[in-house]
Amino acid sequence: MFLCCCLSLVALIPLTTSTNPGVKVKLTAKGIEYGRQLAVASILQKLKTIKLDDMSGKVRVSRTGKVRYSLTNMKMVKVGLPTAALDLVPGTGPKLSIVNANFRLQGNWRVKYLFIKDKGSFKLNADDISFSTSLSIKSDPTGRPAVRSIDCGANIGKMSVRFRGGASWLYNLCKKTISRAIRKAMQKKICPLVANAVSDLNNNLKTLNVLAKVDKYAEIEYSMVASPAVSKTSIDFGLKGEFYNIGKHQEPPFSPAVFSLPPQINNMLYIGVSSFTIESAAFVYNTAGALSLYITDDMIPTISPIRLNTQTFGVFIPQIAQRFPGLMMKLLVKMAKAPVITFEPNNATVQSFASVTAYAIQPNATLTPLFVLNLVSSVSARVFVSGTRLAGGVTLNKMDLTLGTSDVGDFQVGILNSIFQTVLNFVVITTMNAELAKGYPLPTLGKMKLVNTQLLVLKDHVMIGTDVQFTG
Ligand SMILES: *[C@@H]1O[C@H](CO)[C@@H](O)[C@H](O)[C@H]1NC(C)=O
Ligand SMILES: *[C@@H]1O[C@H](CO)[C@@H](O)[C@H](O)[C@H]1NC(C)=O
Repeated sequence: MFLCCCLSLVALIPLTTSTNPGVKVKLTAKGIEYGRQLAVASILQKLKTIKLDDMSGKVRVSRTGKVRYSLTNMKMVKVGLPTAALDLVPGTGPKLSIVNANFRLQGNWRVKYLFIKDKGSFKLNADDISFSTSLSIKSDPTGRPAVRSIDCGANIGKMSVRFRGGASWLYNLCKKTISRAIRKAMQKKICPLVANAVSDLNNNLKTLNVLAKVDKYAEIEYSMVASPAVSKTSIDFGLKGEFYNIGKHQEPPFSPAVFSLPPQINNMLYIGVSSFTIESAAFVYNTAGALSLYITDDMIPTISPIRLNTQTFGVFIPQIAQRFPGLMMKLLVKMAKAPVITFEPNNATVQSFASVTAYAIQPNATLTPLFVLNLVSSVSARVFVSGTRLAGGVTLNKMDLTLGTSDVGDFQVGILNSIFQTVLNFVVITTMNAELAKGYPLPTLGKMKLVNTQLLVLKDHVMIGTDVQFTG
């Protein structure tokens, strides 16, 4: 049993590591700088809440004499993190280093020496604190990034304590010891607190929409396919970026090719969407039967002289007018296979392969098939970002009709070109554009807003450069 498990695990490993991402996300130095500000603000917030437990101890001041002290009500009144750097350590992760941090703590003291008791308050200033931690970024079991603080070290340098109230000769006896005790207690607090602040970041990372609903047919998966790659200037995430039928994750008969985002630095974030992602969408909609469309005359604008009836078609194919006089017609456009999407620099093209069946509608509503055409069409696509969604629109480039079968005798298909051009433009393209304009969700965290967004169509992928803002 155990061996069996091990073997199946081993068998799984190459599978999972060889998955190429369909979507890549690059966090640039500018994005990391934004992350640094968020991290520092979070750590600062945490440091302000530090409370030290009451302490007590004793200091031997002579052969027989001991000063007993106790410190109570200690709390942080001021914290400053003036210098914080977040550097990337290639192959490891980001490293956060803070130097010259400072804090002021206040509390109450009590001292007992022989028969003398005294008390007062104190302030403690430390302005030479440094700490650093490396962050590991891994994929959690849901495919979301998870960060963890590793190799944290903290050091508190000089401290000065000022006592108020009481007799100075008395508290001076234990000043050094108190300062040392507080340093030790503080030093022990810093790294767990940093770890805590870092792990709080996971609350945000957990909002990554690893499975985002698109519409009633499809959802898109954005889980990470591997741990992120850390270089000197960026952190690169590989996400699955694959459309699936809702609830039914059937793999398409093709897989993502390797693509790489060109080096870019101006935006915080670059998102590369491969042609695989878009083709997986086409596969899903096609499999779900969502890419077929019945076209009836009422869908064609009234201004068009071309009508879906046997009279119009009879002009080109006289048999139709003779055998089916005065009937309305209906067309069924159906994808023969999933469309092929090609991204070339500044050029997004979709080639689709469909069949068009023309029917005459009998008075008793029976559909009588007239002919079937094969339609190969090429459209140019515009791709744009709308909010946090990627949307598009298409225009017809080229269309090629060939005869499949005919129940109305042989005819030259070319004569139907203008009819089908009209139908494609007025109905099919218009319907598609209404759907494409809705777009689908990009990978996002929480209430992330995209600003300064731009988009480039490149070889085999679309690259979105954007800055982000988090609201609320
Ligand atoms: C865009 O690419 C398609 C095929 O990849 C090609 O047929 C077409 O001519 C290109 N258009 C432009 C404007 O370069
Ligand atoms: C409908 O009308 C057509 C043509 O008149 C005829 O061939 C067909 O049998 C009819 N179907 C039904 C269900 O009445």
